[in-house]
Amino acid sequence: MERPQELQDFLDIALPAMQARAVGAQSRASLAWIAKAAATPAAPGAAPASQPVVERVLEPALDRPVEQADLAALLAALRALAPRLCWRRRSGDATAGPGFEDGHANAMLLGPGGIEDRRDLWIGLSLLAPGIRYPDHQHAPEETYLVLSPGDFWQEDGDWFQPGVGGSFYNPPNIQHAMKAGDEPLLALWALRPEREAASHKPRLAAP
Ligand SMILES: [Fe+2]
Repeated sequence: MERPQELQDFLDIALPAMQARAVGAQSRASLAWIAKAAATPAAPGAAPASQPVVERVLEPALDRPVEQADLAALLAALRALAPRLCWRRRSGDATAGPGFEDGHANAMLLGPGGIEDRRDLWIGLSLLAPGIRYPDHQHAPEETYLVLSPGDFWQEDGDWFQPGVGGSFYNPPNIQHAMKAGDEPLLALWALRPEREAASHKPRLAAP
């Protein structure tokens, strides 16, 4: 199975960048497992697809000057990978803010419906236009975020917090969580490890 070079280059930077910033033993263990699994390519999946919000705000999100060299390299690798991304929208609900539908997109790199269509792990991106609030949501797989822009994040029973560029946090299985963009686009990378038993079942198209 051959992996597009742009995708391999991105993973080679993104996974170590996530591992270097992971907070806590659970997150580190999750990412170590994901990095090992991701070393094996899987069958190609989704064809590239864009969304209006991507045309509006991806470029400014990638253009951000960042001090940390590996994150600058990550954004450059993402720019190279951008033409291959399959961006989709998820449904909103009562907790989504105004404009959510047209103001967000998710791209799966590795995972269900991804550039590599696979069930053993999920790695993807969320992009929100300024002012957009993502709905509260939850999922069985545990999840680690690497935040690549300003933005506010929330976890069940907590207050909204601002990880900042390069910030990382861990969502245990089934915890409610959300995010919202302030004055600038929000860009975040996430990596999920499905429950081992669930990984063999066909999940719905993912909406992390
Ligand atoms: Fe999530």
